[in-house]
Amino acid sequence: MRDSRETSLTPETSFTHAFVTGFPVKHSRSPIIHGHWLQGFGIAGTYQAIEVEPKEFADFIATLKDGTSRFAGGNVTIPHKEQAFALSDAPDALASELGAANTLFMSDGKLHATNTDGYGFLNNLDDRAPGWTDAKDRAVVLGAGGASRAIIQALRDRGFGEIHVLNRTVERAQELSDRFGPRIHAAPLGALAERLAGADLFVNTTSLGMDDSDAIAIDFTAMRAGALVTDIVYVPLMTPILAQAKEQGMRVADGLGMLLHQAVPGFEKWFGKRPSVTPELRSMIIADMEKH
Ligand code: ATR
Repeated sequence: MRDSRETSLTPETSFTHAFVTGFPVKHSRSPIIHGHWLQGFGIAGTYQAIEVEPKEFADFIATLKDGTSRFAGGNVTIPHKEQAFALSDAPDALASELGAANTLFMSDGKLHATNTDGYGFLNNLDDRAPGWTDAKDRAVVLGAGGASRAIIQALRDRGFGEIHVLNRTVERAQELSDRFGPRIHAAPLGALAERLAGADLFVNTTSLGMDDSDAIAIDFTAMRAGALVTDIVYVPLMTPILAQAKEQGMRVADGLGMLLHQAVPGFEKWFGKRPSVTPELRSMIIADMEKH
């Protein structure tokens, strides 16, 4: 027999609800992405941004697990990704290795956690730079912060032979080498020119060059002919690092598609349909970026 409280919520329960949480979260463009897909499929669902302070995050997760918040799941962004992983019941192998989750979903009464940032990164390049892994002997990753981890994991799992992680604080790069295995090599920023020689891919994961005080000049021309330069910063789309690379005649790919593609697996889990990343969606996000 159905519970009377459930009956009183009948109109509500026919909807599926998902969220994005962060602190702050108002800058998030995920509601536009998921809203676009919900509308396109004609799904009775919602996707809302919910700001949760770090000290309240454990309580928020508890309401997911006991069902009182009625969410099928959601996305987690800064600064909650590590806590989301730690508080979930069933993290997958990707989230466990990273120690961070960006996607949560309830299934069989358990809170599952995964991390789709690496998936988003790879799919963006597959989409925007076809053939980018035809040669994958050497990748150079600038930065060893939170964002760099998922990139390193993804490049390793895609089969790159050597992944060089260069960071101002070389100890942080070394930690990533220890975590992700012998194909990951740590180096200081001063080694950049040497590590770039013959490389197939360069990835920026830092905010370097975004203000004049830390402008950085990089000579990409010693990379393999046809090598790709990408940046996971996507505001602006053409970052100072990408602009330099382009000027030097390099192939470049911006990072916006990482945001779009990382959203796909979550939507499919919560709402049961696999959405596509289309030029129309990309244009919608660019238009929103131009407004703010
Ligand atoms: P995120 O989670 O976005 O990666 P983060 O963990 O704060 O953010 O990491 C920022 C990255 O940018 C780090 O690799 C940082 O280098 P340090 O580990 O040495 O701090 C790098 N970074 C930021 N500003 C920098 C600067 N002015 N010069 C060199 N590296 C910088």
